This record gives sequence, structure tokens and C-alpha cells, in this order.
Amino acid sequence: MFNLETFDIKLETNFIGRNFIYAEEVDSTNSILLSKENKKYNIDGTVVLAEKQNKGRGRKTRVWYSARGYNLTFSILLSSKEYFKSKVNLLNFVAAIAVAHSVENLYQLRCELKWPNDVLINKKKIAGILLESVSSGNKLEKVVIGIGLNVNQITFHGNYNVEPTSLKIELENQRINRETLLAEILNNFEETLYRFVYNKKYILNEWKEHCSMIGERISITDGDKEIFGIFDDIDDDGFLLLKTRSGIEKIRFGDVTLSLCF
Ligand code: BTN
Repeated sequence: MFNLETFDIKLETNFIGRNFIYAEEVDSTNSILLSKENKKYNIDGTVVLAEKQNKGRGRKTRVWYSARGYNLTFSILLSSKEYFKSKVNLLNFVAAIAVAHSVENLYQLRCELKWPNDVLINKKKIAGILLESVSSGNKLEKVVIGIGLNVNQITFHGNYNVEPTSLKIELENQRINRETLLAEILNNFEETLYRFVYNKKYILNEWKEHCSMIGERISITDGDKEIFGIFDDIDDDGFLLLKTRSGIEKIRFGDVTLSLCF
């Protein structure tokens, strides 16, 4: 059970999570916020947290599995246009930085960020982020940022493209208070979002500071396509710049792994 009172005491935000919806079971927290139907979910900063998702999804139509009641699976709605001035893609970075800073502050565990939107500890995946949006014409109406964070789950079954871990595993069986952690993430998310509006460079620098793959030989796969090169940099829109034999290529999608080939 999630203790709303404990969470509320720790939440220090102005608007993120002030409209908070707690659900026992849903298809996907992202789907709830993307749907047009329910007006009470349409407030900027609304957060939906679910104990269980029946159709939790990840990038590239992958399934996101999370054991009931153990982890944090939640989504944040942003609808104010001031967040959409830069490439919204960068909001992935805002979320990843907020998760990394929260975990580092609360548990002194160093997090690494993996392009485009994974958070790792000791090379294993602790959290994934899925950003989805709704547009009308070519105007962006809202962005939903879904975060799945492995907290107290200690066994994982199935096929994963990056090996999963959880905070409890990394902290040698210490049970984590989910209420404190979620409040800390939302506090950090709001603070990082404000910085993003005024200083996009901060986000890019902070993200790069947490990414150990820059300068390494990597391969990027997208469906059947695989491309090799050196991870040169991230551009101002958050796209990956890959140094290949034929020059620098801008990569918008794909899964990155370290590689010996070039
Ligand atoms: C990924 O690693 O591919 C992204 C995973 C994102 C999972 C979260 S859990 C909360 C939100 N609801 C979903 O259906 N997906 C995201």
C-alpha cells in the first residue's frame, strides 16, 4: 500500500504532483493521461501512479513489466506551452536527471544515463522513461512522461534488452520507502524543469556528465539496421552524434550498446 500522507508531507513542489491520482490497477498510466476523456486528468503537472499496469509499455512497443506494489510506475502530464519551446525530446533528459539525482541524494548510489532514456546502476537498468505526446494539427497539446523505476522487486523474469536491477538489490536488501522516493523525484523533476526552461545547456551538460559512453565505440540498432561508430556527442536537441567512416551522423532512434567494431 502506498501511504498518501507520507508522500504528501515530503512533496515540496508548486505544481508537479499537486493533482495526484493513485490507482490500484490500470492498463497504462501513460494511456490515462493521454486520453482526452477525463477532465480531472487534464491539469498541468498531474501525476498518475499505479500499483499494477496490465499493458505497461516501453519504447519501441516493448512491454514494461513491474510486480504489483513493489516499484514505482507513474506518469507526469505537462501541458503548458513554455515547456515545448525546445525539442520536447529533451524532457526525457529532464526526467532521467531527476531520477538520477534523487537516487544519488537519497541512497548514495551513482547513476549512469544511457541514451536515449535509461537510468543504470552498475551497468544494469534501474529505470526506463517513455515520452508520448498529443498534438492538434502541428501544435503540441500535451506531453506525458512515463517513468518505470524498479524499487523493491528482487526477481526479474523474461527477456530484457538491458539486464534489470532494483534499488533493493543494489542496496543489498535494504527496503526502500516508495513515498519518500517518489516525492524526491517529483521535487527534483520540477526543479530540473524550471532550469530547462531558462538554461537548456544545464540539462545537456548534466546529462553528459552522467553518460559514460561518450567517446566509446558503440553500435546502434533500430529494427534490422545496425550501425557502428564512436559516440561523439549529443546535439542541442538531444540527438546522438555518431562518428562513422563517412562522417558524423545524427541518430534519432535506436538502442545503444558498447561494441568492439568500428
Ligand atoms: C523503456 O524503458 O522502454 C520505457 C519504460 C517506461 C515504463 C513506464 S511505467 C509508467 C508509464 N506507463 C507505461 O505504460 N509506460 C511508462
